[in-house]
Formats: sequence, structure tokens, C-alpha cells
Amino acid sequence: MSIELRNISKHYGETRAVDEVSLVVPDEVQVLVLIGPSGGGKSTLLRLLGGLEVPTSGEVLYQGRSLGTEESNLRQFRRKNGFLFQQFNLFPHLSALENVMLPLTKVHDFSAAEAKDRAMSGLERFGLQAHAEKMPAQLSGGQQQRVGLARAMAHQPGLLLLDEPTSALDPEMKAEVLEVIDELCREGQRIILTTHEMGFAKKSGDQLVFLSRGKVIDVSEGTAFFESTDSPEIKGFLEKVMKW
Ligand SMILES: Nc1ncnc2c1ncn2[C@@H]1O[C@H](COP(=O)(O)OP(=O)(O)OP(=O)(O)O)[C@@H](O)[C@H]1O
Ligand SMILES: [Mg+2]
Repeated sequence: MSIELRNISKHYGETRAVDEVSLVVPDEVQVLVLIGPSGGGKSTLLRLLGGLEVPTSGEVLYQGRSLGTEESNLRQFRRKNGFLFQQFNLFPHLSALENVMLPLTKVHDFSAAEAKDRAMSGLERFGLQAHAEKMPAQLSGGQQQRVGLARAMAHQPGLLLLDEPTSALDPEMKAEVLEVIDELCREGQRIILTTHEMGFAKKSGDQLVFLSRGKVIDVSEGTAFFESTDSPEIKGFLEKVMKW
């Protein structure tokens, strides 16, 4: 992925959501997973990595180049990426197909006909061809998240950023969405993901970062993280979340 965070902080008033974090994500890392307790700074760091937020201090570098703080540069960077968040962010008054088409025509300059073709093949790819004309309220949570994924992937983003994409779903739908994300991982898509799904983190993450109170507590390769961490905080966290 070739990302470097240099002493990056993000403060909201008195809250240090991300607090002087430095991190190197080498090029070989295809799937980066951010884990840790609630309020630890995962979503904030993901937004910083996606160019959705400007750091209070420090720098984010992609392929050795700083993202900087200029809105026009950040916008250009954001356009190349795909995003999906925990809550289904579909427009309620648009069909599944229209939801996927909208950014293609509005942001990525595709003609309506091209956007429709792309959007349909995206929906097919995620098993939603029968639901293209449905409105979000007529879809299950899992189907809505898959439409969100089709939308995030429609312009073939270099980097897909997912913030707890399954945490609002029932177990069965969770599994169905994780399956699709796993497929994207196997296809070689570059992904940054925050999740509380430790099994998935272990299976799919090339690099895992544990964040707590805005700090990186530990970084390691996928499975090694679960076997060899020395941090009592991480051990405590894993025992708690993997108990049930
Ligand atoms: N826009 C904001 N304005 C004010 N405070 C914020 C904002 N975003 C995050 N915070 C605060 O920053 C800290 C880190 O939040 P963040 O959402 O990054 O944590 P998280 O690890 O994603 O938690 P969770 O697992 O619950 O999603 C929290 O104390 C949060 O209340
Ligand atoms: Mg979060």
C-alpha cells in the first residue's frame, strides 16, 4: 500500500482522537485492518487515511507523497477511493441502481448510459441483479450494504475504505457481507478496514493495527497478532471480544 503516517494527530476540542501516530504500511500490504476498543480512534484514523479529514498536525504520505491539507488535492485523492460506512448511507429516494449510478455521473463524469452499464454489472457482481429497481427501504440490511459496496467499487477505486461495514447487521447478513468483502480481498483489491470481527481480521488482514486512546499500541502481520502480542491491553481486549 505504501502509506506512511508521520506523527499524525487529530483533535476534536479536548479529545485527542488520534494522538501522535506514526506508522509505515509497506507496499506488500494489501489489506490493512484497524482494531481496538470503542473510541480508540479507528474511524478517525480511517478518515485521515482516506483524505476525508485534515490532521491537526502531522502528515499522511501515499507512495512517498504527502496528501497535504489543500482541499482540491484532498478531493482529487478522495475521488480515487471508495468508501463504505457502518450505517447504510444509501439515498432513500433513489433505487439501488440509481444509488450506484449517482456518483458515476456526478463525480466521475460517466455518461448516463455508461453509468447504467457499470452500475448494473456492479449490482450483478454482488448478487443484486434482481433488486436493481428496489428502493433501499425494500432491501434487507445486508442487501443495502452490498449495494453500498457496489457503489463504492463502481469506479474501480485504488483503495477501498470500510468503516465497520457489518456492525449494524444481523449475524446472517453479516456473514453474507463479509463473504463479499473476502472475495474482494482475494481479488487483490486494496482495502483499509475497521472491524470488531476478529475472525475476519485474522483471516484477511495482512497488517493489523491496534489502536487505543488515539495511540497505536501494536502493529503486526495478520495471524501473528493473535499469537504473539506482549501487550496486556491487547490480550485483555482479545480475551474479552473472542470469549463468546
Ligand atoms: N467529529 C467528531 N467530533 C468530536 N469528537 C469526535 C469526532 N469523531 C470522533 N470523536 C471522538 O474521538 C474519539 C475517537 O473516536 P473514533 O470514532 O475514531 O473511535 P473508534 O475507534 O472508531 O470507535 P468505535 O469502535 O466506537 O467506532 C472518541 O472519543 C470520539 O468521541
Ligand atoms: Mg468507529
